[in-house]
Amino acid sequence: MSTALVELQGVTKIYRLGEVEVPALREVDLRVEPGDFLALMGPSGSGKSTLLHILGLLDRPSAGKVLWEGEDVTRLNGGRLAELRGRRIGFVFQMFNLVPNLTALENVELPLVFLGVSLRERRKRAEEALVRLGLGERLHHRPSQLSGGQQQRVALARALITDPALLIADEPTGNLDTTTGREILTIFSALNKQGRTIVLATHDPEAAEVAKARIRLRDGRIMGGTP
Ligand SMILES: Nc1ncnc2c1ncn2[C@@H]1O[C@H](COP(=O)(O)OP(=O)(O)OP(=O)(O)O)[C@@H](O)[C@H]1O
Ligand SMILES: [Mg+2]
Repeated sequence: MSTALVELQGVTKIYRLGEVEVPALREVDLRVEPGDFLALMGPSGSGKSTLLHILGLLDRPSAGKVLWEGEDVTRLNGGRLAELRGRRIGFVFQMFNLVPNLTALENVELPLVFLGVSLRERRKRAEEALVRLGLGERLHHRPSQLSGGQQQRVALARALITDPALLIADEPTGNLDTTTGREILTIFSALNKQGRTIVLATHDPEAAEVAKARIRLRDGRIMGGTP
């Protein structure tokens, strides 16, 4: 079997709130292969965001293993994990999560600042990324001066600026109207056709339909996939 991009083996996640233990994932096995486009579905509280956080190395499992390109990264120290995440993973969220007092261009540049790319180089790359997503006329707008769909495209440009191996999206159409949501889904689809590996969590049947495979979660367990 080829090496998965990310593999979860028996991943359990338990949140502790004082005395109370909240199990969010229970012994989840999952392989994400290069070129995959997976949609995680399931009721609210079923563990979709938790699973994305663990796949995206934003959080660690309570038990089980996370392999990144075959390497066990479960116990990597915080710095190494952050570096791997910064270079190899892009994130898009439901609320766009743009920095409000930065322009579109500055928001998209941000991941490159952390990678130490020169100002001139990152300006150039950020501008190209925004132009590719149809925002060439909006480079100097702040998030509050952009529509929801435009903000999500800025967020996508920011997620893609490092050319990540894995794009993770948590409810990327959750705050968009149907038409704007479809525009964003069309972009995801095109990105996957160009070879980008994508995992998204969604309640939106249209978003799930755009993916190449669907995985259903319930009470922190994978209930099966619908290819
Ligand atoms: N930081 C946290 N601390 C404690 N419990 C948490 C935390 N984050 C999530 N949970 C709990 O873990 C379970 C799974 O939550 P998660 O956010 O992964 O669900 P979800 O499928 O993404 O839901 P939604 O569709 O509403 O976004 C829920 O019971 C939730 O209350
Ligand atoms: Mg969620």
